[in-house]
Amino acid sequence: MDQEIVALLEAASIEKTENWHGWELHFGTWSGVSVIITRSGVGKVFAAMIMQHLVDTYLVDRVIFSGVAGAIATDLEPGDLVISEDLVHHDMDVTGLGFAPGRIPFTDYHFFAADQTMLERASEVLLEKGKLRKGRIGTGDQFITEKGKLPELGLDAVDMEGCAVAQVCTVQKIPFLIIRIISDRADGSADKDFLTNLSLYAARSIKVIDALI
Ligand code: ADE
Repeated sequence: MDQEIVALLEAASIEKTENWHGWELHFGTWSGVSVIITRSGVGKVFAAMIMQHLVDTYLVDRVIFSGVAGAIATDLEPGDLVISEDLVHHDMDVTGLGFAPGRIPFTDYHFFAADQTMLERASEVLLEKGKLRKGRIGTGDQFITEKGKLPELGLDAVDMEGCAVAQVCTVQKIPFLIIRIISDRADGSADKDFLTNLSLYAARSIKVIDALI
């Protein structure tokens, strides 16, 4: 979202910006590390497209993805951070052919584990407000407003891009971590204060990104 990318661009030193089919790619450094900052857009196809472009063209060697998510676990409140232990496509459903919910048929892919080193480093970050914890993120091309409709996958939070990024990175052996700020309880009652608080929340995820870099 705008508030998030603005904060990221301020945290980095941007040297140039290029356009790829409407995606703005910002090139620069962050604490001396070369970075490319961009936004995925909404949904799995856009996320996979831009991710593959970054891999093919710029040979990125690590990926940090951040954004908002709906809470499934009852202990998660708006403003809390979930860092991805693993991710699954909650809308991958080939149960009609006997495959488990979330499993990608005819492959071994089901739950996509994030990079352990990045996960551990991120989990050490101390936030002044809001909690930060590891969790399982479910991804689908739907904004979830009724948790009851989700398959039983042990999810902590839901988003619309994370597992697409995770899948592209896993297939190509690129370490990744997804950081999600809880914006709502996935029950249709999106927090009315969320947009007001977004810059504040974005600062929490930037603290984690900074520690990782
Ligand atoms: N991102 C933020 N809230 C979400 C929700 N309820 N469902 C899917 N993605 C989300």
